[in-house]
Amino acid sequence: MKPFLWAVLCGAAAVALVSAAGKDGEISLEYHRYEELRKALVSVWLQCQTITRIYTIGESFEGRELLVLEMSDNPGTHEPGEPEFKYIGNMHGNEAVGRELLIYLAQYLCNQYQQGNETIIDLIHNTRIHIMPSMNPDGFEKAASQPGDIKDWFVGRSNAQGVDLNRNFPDLDRIIYMNEREGGANNHLLQNMKKAVDENTKLAPETKAVIRWIMDIPFVLSANLHGGDIVANYPYDETRTGSTHEYSASPDDVMFKSLARAYSMYNPVMSDPRRPPCRKNDDDSSFKDGITNGGAWYSVPGGMQDFNYLSSNCFEITLELSCDKFPSEDTLKTYWDQNRNSLVNYIEQVHRGVKGFVRDLHGNPLSNATISVEGISHDITTAKDGDYWRLLAPGNYKVAASAPGYLTVIKKVAVPHSPATRVDFELESLLERKEEEREELTDWWRMMSETLNF
Ligand SMILES: *[C@@H]1O[C@H](CO)[C@@H](O)[C@H](O)[C@H]1NC(C)=O
Ligand SMILES: *[C@@H]1O[C@H](CO)[C@@H](O)[C@H](O)[C@H]1NC(C)=O
Ligand SMILES: [Zn+2]
Repeated sequence: MKPFLWAVLCGAAAVALVSAAGKDGEISLEYHRYEELRKALVSVWLQCQTITRIYTIGESFEGRELLVLEMSDNPGTHEPGEPEFKYIGNMHGNEAVGRELLIYLAQYLCNQYQQGNETIIDLIHNTRIHIMPSMNPDGFEKAASQPGDIKDWFVGRSNAQGVDLNRNFPDLDRIIYMNEREGGANNHLLQNMKKAVDENTKLAPETKAVIRWIMDIPFVLSANLHGGDIVANYPYDETRTGSTHEYSASPDDVMFKSLARAYSMYNPVMSDPRRPPCRKNDDDSSFKDGITNGGAWYSVPGGMQDFNYLSSNCFEITLELSCDKFPSEDTLKTYWDQNRNSLVNYIEQVHRGVKGFVRDLHGNPLSNATISVEGISHDITTAKDGDYWRLLAPGNYKVAASAPGYLTVIKKVAVPHSPATRVDFELESLLERKEEEREELTDWWRMMSETLNF
């Protein structure tokens, strides 16, 4: 589209935005302050209006919007059966590379879609992708407004109230570790506690907004982009015993490793076994193939990654993308080149495992039904339309669908690396089953009576 045409279609405001953000289709490999970030997202939307939407999940403490760019063939709606994915950047305001990479990613996906790239077209047609470049816009402004190229290691990390957002989530690890010992739920640990979250004064506005987002949208897969090191970090982040370093496997350890590798393996620096530690005294002993278990590296209570897994169906990993948290602008192109294929390949992982629908015998969707996998003590649940996505590494599994008042159905499923195997479940209601049994009994009685002639 030419800016001139937009003048006719959208008025002068749109033209100002387009020209401020550079020519159509250009990837702007530079830092974006808050206003520039807005403009960059708007220009992607103007360029790719049929597949994008901009929305906000709330405001930061200082009133900046927590902006999300959505990409999908039907922006604004959850399509039954289509998995949802999210990227969150800049949760620590001074960790700036992820924020910029997500802006470039949005521009790249839009460009490639328009240029007819089949891989990207398929991805956007079959996935609802949510990109939030900055979860901590206040912290970023603080970090970015320091003069000069060398930024302080901590300035801007927290939100404007001084809260470290990646220590601010409800600590569900403590609950799951107790439930492991004493019995109890293995998923959705915040069930029916929405009100308590809303009223919790310890939670920062950014944290609350993200919690609501996680609860409202049936996300399947996510990554949270940080800086300060180079590794793909997977759950659990908080250790079982509370010790500082301890491998802390989740029930989905095998799949999480595979997901983390799906990122690291496409990043030549992250996966390089000879890469020296970022700083001489850094302890990278838990890193292997560019991935690490969170707890094995260092314990993080109240983090967002474990919160996703323990409060929803969403699997999240944490990506550390650069030794420098706020490197000089002329290095951004290098980071984009290192991470571009990883960023796209990681979204593709949402199409793995088992997926399908759970319905009753009349074809009505059963929402909030439980999908459990034998041997993995972490259930997931169906979304509103009865649709579900159960990420799984390749192998043979027994998958069960159950719901209160229905007979459980178990199926054997072979899972390849990808794509996801489609498995639908039809559950019989126990009430109808009793009805059926009564009818069968009546039929039998009638037949007996006729046969015996009494
Ligand atoms: C299409 O997109 C994929 C994924 O980003 C990329 O690897 C490939 O090079 C692109 N194809 C073309 C022709 O640009
Ligand atoms: C979903 O199901 C679980 C257990 O079957 C139940 O505890 C919970 O209240 C249900 N949630 C909703 C929103 O219906
Ligand atoms: Zn961080």
